Amino acid sequence: MTEQLERVAQAMVADGKGILAADESTGTIKKRFDLIQVESTEDNRRKYRELLFRTDSAMRNYVSGVILFDETLRQNAEDGTPLVKIIKDAGALPGIKVDCGAKPLAGAAGETVTEGLDGLRERISEYASLGAEFAKWRAVINIGSGGSAAIPSLYSIRANAHALARYAALCQEGGIVPIVEPEVLMDGDHDIDRCYDVTEVTLREVYNALYEHRVLLEGTVLKPNMVVSGTLCPDQAGIEEVAEKTVQCLKRTVPSAVPGICFLSGGQSEEDATAHLSAINGMFDVPWRLSFSYGRALQQAALKAWSGKAENVAAAQAAFAHRAKMNGLAASGKWTAELEQAA
Ligand code: 13P
Repeated sequence: MTEQLERVAQAMVADGKGILAADESTGTIKKRFDLIQVESTEDNRRKYRELLFRTDSAMRNYVSGVILFDETLRQNAEDGTPLVKIIKDAGALPGIKVDCGAKPLAGAAGETVTEGLDGLRERISEYASLGAEFAKWRAVINIGSGGSAAIPSLYSIRANAHALARYAALCQEGGIVPIVEPEVLMDGDHDIDRCYDVTEVTLREVYNALYEHRVLLEGTVLKPNMVVSGTLCPDQAGIEEVAEKTVQCLKRTVPSAVPGICFLSGGQSEEDATAHLSAINGMFDVPWRLSFSYGRALQQAALKAWSGKAENVAAAQAAFAHRAKMNGLAASGKWTAELEQAA
């Protein structure tokens, strides 16, 4: 079991590859489809995700795994092939989002705790039988506005770290690798140093909890936010500062037994997410693989190019292939802005 967890975790962070987060819940994918004026039906969701998974050049060369939502793990392509089989045939690993979302945390106005532990052992067992080799659970840490020190509270950070650790232990018991995702949100007017401080304490609490819950670090993948300025902060940190502070924060908190760290994009533009990852990889000597597990930053251009029309499938696939390639290059520190222009 230990060996399998380690093997899968290593495969998830294979050199020059990263993870496609295509696990938008039914509510979130509706928001994405609203932007392109496409109705969020089961068939449209299947069509869109099928086009991504059938983009062979992206999947084969730059995608190590795909995080799916429950519906997608059970869905078949137009020709009847299970979507999971298409992913596996392209050499990528299927994964599954198992959390039930961030819900208000009692006694902590403005803060949330992620739910989904009840019945998780049974759900993991079913997901594993459906082909999932890894899972994802996202904890959400909000930073209060106006420099408020009250949010996040240590209480909410610890409640989320505890839930993440219980989830991770259950995944490993069931033979699948947990992606541990504590996301400190970019929303707000805080500066990069505030993001650094909150990310540092969050990661410390998460690794304390993983240790207490006897989680095998070699069989996990961390999915953190980068250390960035809040979206409304008037003073936006540049690429090098983001890279430096992100790596410093990770070095101070993440044990070297963790095989890899796949960042979320969290609302960064597609090019920022790529440029940051490339700078992070190009500038430092670190004990882990540093790659991507992007949702929006891998899909935005593809979604727009598709716009729900069959005649746009090839254009959408070209857009996805390009973004996957740029991020694959960034994951090995080989991306340059010129490559972006050359496309
Ligand atoms: P974004 O890259 O769009 O933040 O999504 C990644 C993800 O899976 C969040 O849980």
